[in-house]
Amino acid sequence: MDKNFYITTPIYYPSAKPHMGHAYSSIIADFFARFKRIDGFNVSFLTGTDEHGLKIQRAAEKKSINTLKFCDEISETFRNLSKTLNLTNTDFIRTTEKRHKDSVQNLWKELEKNNDIYLSKYSGWYSVSDEAFYADDEVEDFEGKKQAISSKSQVEWMDEESYFFRLSKWQNHLLDHYNKNPEFISPPSRKNEVISFVKSGLKDLSVSRKSFSWGIKVPNNNDHIIYVWLDALTNYISALNYPNTENEIYKQFWPADIHLIGKDILRFHAVYWPAFLLAAKIPLPKRVYGHGWILSGEEKMSKSKGNILDPIKIIEKYGLDPLRYYLIKEVSFGNDGNISQERLEDCINSDLANNFGNLCQRVTAFAIKNCLGKVPDKIKFEDEDLKILDKFKDNLNLIRQKIDNQDINFYIDFIVNSLFETNKYFNDQEPWKKKEETIRLNTIVYTTLEIVRKISYMLYPIIPQSSLNALKIFDIKEDEIKFSSLEDHYYLKGKSMINKIDILFKKIEKEND
Ligand code: MSP
Repeated sequence: MDKNFYITTPIYYPSAKPHMGHAYSSIIADFFARFKRIDGFNVSFLTGTDEHGLKIQRAAEKKSINTLKFCDEISETFRNLSKTLNLTNTDFIRTTEKRHKDSVQNLWKELEKNNDIYLSKYSGWYSVSDEAFYADDEVEDFEGKKQAISSKSQVEWMDEESYFFRLSKWQNHLLDHYNKNPEFISPPSRKNEVISFVKSGLKDLSVSRKSFSWGIKVPNNNDHIIYVWLDALTNYISALNYPNTENEIYKQFWPADIHLIGKDILRFHAVYWPAFLLAAKIPLPKRVYGHGWILSGEEKMSKSKGNILDPIKIIEKYGLDPLRYYLIKEVSFGNDGNISQERLEDCINSDLANNFGNLCQRVTAFAIKNCLGKVPDKIKFEDEDLKILDKFKDNLNLIRQKIDNQDINFYIDFIVNSLFETNKYFNDQEPWKKKEETIRLNTIVYTTLEIVRKISYMLYPIIPQSSLNALKIFDIKEDEIKFSSLEDHYYLKGKSMINKIDILFKKIEKEND
C-alpha cells in the first residue's frame, strides 16, 4: 500500500498580513497531515508564499519599499503564523527562491518544446487583485469603472504582446479526466461549475506580461515575465525538486494526494494547472478540494472590505486550540461559514471545557482517590463497557474512509458523540456506589480511561497541544500516538501511574451568565 501522503495549502500572497481565511486553509491542511501521520503515513505538507506579479509589485511601491525586501518581511509573518498555528508543514516555499525559479523556467521550456506555447497579442480585461483575465461577459460597470462580476475586483484593460498557452487544445482531455476521476474536483458540489466552464469552450491563456518586471523571466526572451499563476502553481512540484523527477522526494510524493484551496481559486487549480501538467506530460494531482469561505458578518473577509478578523488577536484572547477546534467544527467543511466570537465561546465552554476537559479531570480524580492513582489491573468487561469501546474498533476503517473523502464533519461528530456517551456512561455506571465491588469499579474506571485515551488520540489532529496535555495522564508522548491502537481495548497497562493534569480549558465567563 502507498503509505506516502502529500498535501498542500495555497501559497499566500504576501500583499498584506495573514487573516483568518489564510489561517483556515492552513489549519485544515494541518488536520489532515496530522491525521495521516498518526495513521502511519509518511507525510509531506507544503505551504508558502506567492511573491511575484503586479499585485505584489504595486503593494511594495505603495509603501516605497524594495519589492524583495517587502516580500521578505511579509513572507516572514506567514512563516511565523505557521508556527503560531502549530502547523506541521515539512517545507515552506517562497516563489522568489532559486529552486522555484529554475523549476518554473524548466516547465516553461517543456511546454514550449511540446509546442504548447506561442507568441501573440493579448487585448482584454485583467484584475490585478485576482491576477486573472476576464472575458467581456465576466465584467460589469461599477461606479464608472469596470469590475469582475465574480470577485467584484476592479479590472483594467490590457493590450500587449504576450505568450499564450494552448489551453484550448486540452479541453477534451480535461473533460475526459474529470469523467474518469470523479473525485478529482471535490467537494462534488463544485464540480459542475468547473465542467460547464470547460465545456463552454476554453480559450488559449495569456501566460506572460511585458509591462512590469517583478517575476520570473521567460527563458530566451527577457522582455517577458511569466504569468504569476503559471509561476505560482508550479510551487507544488518545485518543492519536490522538479525537474529532477528521479529524486526520492519527487518519486515518493508526486502526484500530490490533495491540493487544498479556497473555492475562489478552483479554476486555476482544476483547469489551468492540470492542463499545464498534461502538456508537460506530468501526472496530475489526485484531488483538488475547494473549501468554502470564512465569512465575517455574512461577507468574505478581505482587506478591501475592512472586515478582517485577525487570527493572532483571537489566539491571544482564547488560545490556539480553541480557535482550531472552532474552525474545524463550526465551519461545515466545504461550505461557507460565518464566524462569531460568541459561538467560539460557546464551543470552548460546552465541548472543550465541559465535555472533554471535565471528563478527563473527573476520571483521573476518581482513579487517584479510589484506585491508588494507578490504571486498574483486575478488570472484566461487560456488555455496557464493550458497547462503547467497540464503537472505536468497529469504525476505524470507516473513519479512515471518511477522512480520505475529506468528511471532517463526520470525524468531529464522532468525537462529540463519543464524549457525550462517555460522560453519560460514567454517570450511569455510578462507580462511586461500587466501592464494595472492586472488579466492577475497576472496569468502569479502566473503560473510561481507555476512552479518554482514544478520544485524545482522535483530537490530536484538531487540538494537538491540548490532546498532548490530556495524554500526560498516561505519560503518552506524541510519537506514541497511533490511530490503529484505537482498536485495542487493553492498551493501557494495569498498574501504570495516573498523573493529575492541569485544567485543560478555562471556561469563558459570559456577560449574561
Ligand atoms: N496566491 C494565490 C494562491 C496561489 S496557489 C498556487 C492566492 N493567495 S491568497 O492569499 O489570496 O489566498 C490564499 C487562500 O486563502 C485561497 O485559497 C483563498 O481561498 C483563501 N482565503 C482568502 N480569504 C478567505 C476567506 N475569507 N475564507 C476562507 N479562505 C479564504 O489566492
